[in-house]
Amino acid sequence: MPLPLHPLPGVFGAEATVDLTAPGNRGLSADLLQALHDHRLLVIPGQHLNHADLLAAAAHFGPVDTHVDRRYAVGGFPGLTTISNITEDGTHVGVYDGDNEEEWHADNSFKPELTRATLLYSVITPAQGGETRFADATRAYADLPAELKERIAHLRAVHSIQQLAQLQSRASGGQSSTAAGSLATHPEVEHPLVLAHPVTGAGSLLLGSMVVKYIVGMDPDESRALLADLLAHTTSSPYVYTHRWRPGDLVVWDNLATLHTASPCDSSRHRRLLYRASVR
Ligand code: OGA
Ligand code: MN
Repeated sequence: MPLPLHPLPGVFGAEATVDLTAPGNRGLSADLLQALHDHRLLVIPGQHLNHADLLAAAAHFGPVDTHVDRRYAVGGFPGLTTISNITEDGTHVGVYDGDNEEEWHADNSFKPELTRATLLYSVITPAQGGETRFADATRAYADLPAELKERIAHLRAVHSIQQLAQLQSRASGGQSSTAAGSLATHPEVEHPLVLAHPVTGAGSLLLGSMVVKYIVGMDPDESRALLADLLAHTTSSPYVYTHRWRPGDLVVWDNLATLHTASPCDSSRHRRLLYRASVR
């Protein structure tokens, strides 16, 4: 039976109706991967996944990346990371970026090898706030005027975890886990500004509101202005889907075709817990 898919409202994304732990569904890898490449974002609600199940779900999409921040790695399940605003004995139990500012990004763009897809599985959801917003960087690129496409075709941008850590720390009053993390020792890396997707061939804008430092070889003011314009276009409402989490939601995104950001959540009032896996 083909995977039942319903497009989300907007320009990208689809909801898949499937129980990923049902024994008959182990052979769905090709369908799931095809659906991800077709829609760039998959919402798979109503799952009951333990840690092993989440790793098995990730494996449908590719080899799981086990190089995760050790402080928030889930013990015994290499590749799983805790994303949470919950503290125990004054320590954050998961990756936490503060309650304040949006930070549009593609995961791990500060690393030389780009992450192909990420899965987030929701366990505890806040009654208010804490949505994740996704932008269709592929459709946003496709809609650019031809002259602008030509102007940016061969540009490269520098991505810096140090800059991300600094800006996130400033935005969150020192609360960000990136700032405190060991990842802040990564050297800067360069990526194309326009990615050609390795499977679909579609062009996509690889941007980041905090992690992208400048465009190589461009006047700094011009670089800043161009990056700001492209980000504003890509994250403007026609290209954005806002996901309001329910417990049991599994969301998968094509990290080479989309951007995303957490949304503010008042951690003094609401708890939030998700688990993440990325694939290479
Ligand atoms: C992530 C991420 C957003 C969120 O885990 O990579 O960006 O809303 N999460 O928690
Ligand atoms: Mn992310």
